[in-house]
Amino acid sequence: MQLRAEPAAPMRGVTTVPGDKSQSHRALLLGAMAVGASRVSGMLEGEDVLATAAALRRLGVSLERESDGVWRIDGVGVGGLAEADRPLDLGNAGTGARLLLGLLAGHPFTTFVTGDDSLRARPMGRVIAPLAEMGARFLARSGERLPLAVTGTTELLPISYRLPVASAQVKSAILLAGLHAPGRTTVIEPEPSRDHTERLLRHLGAEIEIEEQGGGARAISLGGQPELVAGPIVIPGDPSSAAFLLVAAALTEGSSLRLEGVGINPLRTGLLECLEEMGAKMRIEPRAEAGGEPLADLTIEAGPLRGIDVPAARGPRMIDEYPILAVAAACARGTTRMNGLAELRVKESDRLSAIAEGLRACGVDVESGAESLVIHGCDGRPPGGARLDARLDHRIAMSFLALGGLSRAPVIVDGAETIDTSFPGYAALMNRLGARIDQVGS
Ligand code: S3P
Repeated sequence: MQLRAEPAAPMRGVTTVPGDKSQSHRALLLGAMAVGASRVSGMLEGEDVLATAAALRRLGVSLERESDGVWRIDGVGVGGLAEADRPLDLGNAGTGARLLLGLLAGHPFTTFVTGDDSLRARPMGRVIAPLAEMGARFLARSGERLPLAVTGTTELLPISYRLPVASAQVKSAILLAGLHAPGRTTVIEPEPSRDHTERLLRHLGAEIEIEEQGGGARAISLGGQPELVAGPIVIPGDPSSAAFLLVAAALTEGSSLRLEGVGINPLRTGLLECLEEMGAKMRIEPRAEAGGEPLADLTIEAGPLRGIDVPAARGPRMIDEYPILAVAAACARGTTRMNGLAELRVKESDRLSAIAEGLRACGVDVESGAESLVIHGCDGRPPGGARLDARLDHRIAMSFLALGGLSRAPVIVDGAETIDTSFPGYAALMNRLGARIDQVGS
């Protein structure tokens, strides 16, 4: 599908955004490991999450969307999955694939896992290494790519593992495997990454200890073989989805937008910090916590933004927001510098290249290095007028459609159907608030 974004009218209104993708995956996977029925409200019904739900169904879990939109998961208990009779296709979902491998490591049967062109190109060695150390066996294409076969075991060993990169997916895969191992499984992360798995495990009754180790590092340890107790789970709006609306509104003159019930887990708020430093007129009104996760209503008004130096240490707390931050930087006054971006190269696409090439095609002056981007802002509307491919990357598609709304000439994005992985209804919602995004052709 090809979408074209034309210069937008002021973005005005009050809305919510779809449920948090990370938390939706975790609700499904941990709800499946609990004893009893979990009811999940606010679930993201995007393709990534639906792929994880379909995989769990193939593994014997009963999942049902009830008439009020609440999802009911009948948990099978830790270690209670059944062998699937066909390969599991996780589509575009890196979180679904990596976390599921953690669960499968503790089950004594073989599962074949694959995904779309994007997911099959992504590195799985980062989860295979620790899970193999715990006792699971893998046969993977090129040693570390999907498709792969995983054979789990009921005799998984608890390990203590130091993550080479701050990755919530790898941390979570190890913790989910650790549910099946006797004794304590410990993950040491060099910098804090999103802690939704830890929070939800606690919410369901697991015993988690977190020890600060200095310099930002922390050790997270889980007591193995707990009985997880099913209960209600409430999922807030996804801050990574809210990001597109916030940037579009901040930069479209006359905008005033309110986003209700957005997750503000402190390990996800790096973009909000950047926008504040850039001079955005934003208000964060916290609401009562839901299911162990903080949320807030966010209000933003248009105003000029200035370029900033983004500290590399902020990276894990805004890892998925670099593409839309780059769009903000392209419209800001002055230069924005971002460093420590190596992880962007192994996301749904090589996002560092996609950002640099896309911005250049839109007439923005960008310098890119192996792990860095320097964006010289246009102090207003960039020229735009480019036609770009989404590269099977929902965030690249949404970021450049947002840029189309902020540019002097329209931006066309091919392959825009990928947006449905995380933000179904993106174009319709943006248009309802003032954007002009249309399908080109049929
Ligand atoms: C996610 C963690 C991040 C993020 C991804 C979702 C998660 O990946 O980019 O979109 O739900 O744990 P890494 O853990 O690989 O950094």
